[in-house]
Amino acid sequence: MESKLTTSEESPMNIPAHIAIIMDGNGRWAQKRGLPRLAGHRAGTENLREIIKACVEFGIHYLTIYAFSTENWGRPADEVDGLMHILEEVIDQELDELNEQGVQLVHIGRLERLDPVLQEKVEKSIYLTKHNKKLTVCIAWNYGGRDEIVCAIKRIIDDGLKAEEVCDDVVSNYLFTKGIPDPDLIIRTSGEMRISNFLIWQSAYAEWYITPTLWPDFNRDELQKAIINYGQRERRYGLVIPCQDE
Ligand code: IPE
Ligand code: IPE
Ligand code: MG
Repeated sequence: MESKLTTSEESPMNIPAHIAIIMDGNGRWAQKRGLPRLAGHRAGTENLREIIKACVEFGIHYLTIYAFSTENWGRPADEVDGLMHILEEVIDQELDELNEQGVQLVHIGRLERLDPVLQEKVEKSIYLTKHNKKLTVCIAWNYGGRDEIVCAIKRIIDDGLKAEEVCDDVVSNYLFTKGIPDPDLIIRTSGEMRISNFLIWQSAYAEWYITPTLWPDFNRDELQKAIINYGQRERRYGLVIPCQDE
């Protein structure tokens, strides 16, 4: 069911087509409860289900979720293994329902370093959902913005492009996000005010929303608040907006 968000005056609101989320704060959520960090990561998959449903409800077209960065390999081995296991579990348990909801799954980052069984599961879920149109959920897993740009430069060189042929659009088409519009709104939970190597090219003119709420506590209402806040922004893209009465 799609419920168009409205302002207090009941006029239709400006909804972001693409929301990207840095899902941060799982460790602190667990620590506050005296639980192991992995319990926080697990809790962070429960509310993700609610957030995906809410995106469908609000008419969002793309949701990108930052779930594992290229730097996260540096965490203790049991946490890294646990996170890989959680991804596998989520695919096993949620894929059919996501498919039924009309969700298309996409991956950004590099699969090479993952266990071959997990790689295959990710590839299969992308294949199974490739014709779905309701919402594209783009999972950033083993993703790093710098790694993405380095990969793009290498492939541009390998393809023999001349310097004068390289422009913004060409670079965008060599990124992992090829074909996906830039995010309109980036949400970071847990209060940190940094980009942490996420979508560093694509975020050039994104609007930011940072909330102190830890990721496992971020729910439909919090998402709605972020979208309403976005609807009140004026995006200027470096231009001057003429006054209404001019
Ligand atoms: C985000 O939560 C999930 C991943 C980075 C995988 P964290 O694990 O970073 O949680 P905090 O920041 O330590 O609370
Ligand atoms: C960013 O969170 C990565 C993900 C949410 C997957 P981190 O917790 O890894 O980032 P830093 O260390 O606070 O910058
Ligand atoms: Mg963190």
